[in-house]
Amino acid sequence: MRGARIIGTGRALPPRVVRNDELTERMDTSDEWIVQRTGVRERRYVEPGTGSSDLGADAARKAIDRAGITPGDVDLIVFATLSPDHIFPGNGVLVQDRLGIPTVGALDVRDQCSGFVYGLSVAEAYVKGGFHDHVLVIGAEVQSAGLDFSTKGRDVAVIFGDGAGAVVVGPSEPGRGILSSHLHSEGKHAKDLWVDAPSFRENPWLTHEMIDAGRHFPRMNGRYVFTHAVRRFPEAVLESLERNGLTIADLSLLIPHQANLRITQAVGAALQLPQEKVFSNVERYGNTTAASIPIALDECVEQGRIREGDLVCLASFGSGFTWASALLRW
Ligand code: ACO
Repeated sequence: MRGARIIGTGRALPPRVVRNDELTERMDTSDEWIVQRTGVRERRYVEPGTGSSDLGADAARKAIDRAGITPGDVDLIVFATLSPDHIFPGNGVLVQDRLGIPTVGALDVRDQCSGFVYGLSVAEAYVKGGFHDHVLVIGAEVQSAGLDFSTKGRDVAVIFGDGAGAVVVGPSEPGRGILSSHLHSEGKHAKDLWVDAPSFRENPWLTHEMIDAGRHFPRMNGRYVFTHAVRRFPEAVLESLERNGLTIADLSLLIPHQANLRITQAVGAALQLPQEKVFSNVERYGNTTAASIPIALDECVEQGRIREGDLVCLASFGSGFTWASALLRW
């Protein structure tokens, strides 16, 4: 079987920088609390009118360019987001139209922080199986439109930011590129990090009462999420190494989903990885959910932190709960 590798990366961050001090004007919080508990110093917010499909399309354009292909060469679009422009149709078709990609399939992935790694695994399977030559995988979020900026929502609101990242996956020789990917879920924790409403289980699916009760805002059982994240991240990393007969000593770089700095540090410590082998940019962008790994990957490529032959692990944990890893030989 042929291999599948990432042949182009791109990212798009809105220009508006929102520092912690700006949030203190809207809720009872402080720069000190946010930095100490999450590591986030600033994040980006879009201007109203910009959707995650717009950011995703920008990132995708760059990834396609860097891959040395044209939109006409894309065989499949995979779009991961928890903040789509519309309930339906999904963002994939919007990007197909905006980039002038031919009438290929557009698959929308709903696995929150794990969405990008889940999407990458789809690309890997299609390319390794010989079904497609170029799969575009996008992770993009506009969180700023959906956060509770009152003091009640401060635990969640301070963490998240907007942004997008994208990759193109193409064929490679066996043993190079995506070596394997590993997906997991545990739905009994669904309500520990979720948005309850609008809900098609209720009729009508959207009511004034839902909004008055704030059921449309994300709610998180923060300590519970933390406890599970610091266990599942290392499990996912080790699983990918073991599957390929490798050890932690072989790893050049871990790019974890940028949940928050304390989680990243705890994961690095659990795996006994030196700090320089664990990538972090959460201090600049906050947690951008499905976008965080492809944004980080694009920065690493640009900064020369990943070189040919390096062993790179992508790992995620988030709402669902879902968690996943992908091991890459760059
Ligand atoms: N500013 C000031 N005070 C705050 C804020 C805030 N933004 N948010 C919460 N607090 C207060 C709480 O109300 C609480 O006050 P109380 O003691 O009077 O009740 C106090 O701070 C401590 O709250 P805890 O929730 O116990 O704080 P903790 O130390 O657990 O930190 C945090 C909270 C940062 C959310 C932590 O639980 C965490 O890191 N959880 C992981 C969540 C995460 O990373 N989620 C990202 C999304 S999921 C993912 O991507 C994997």
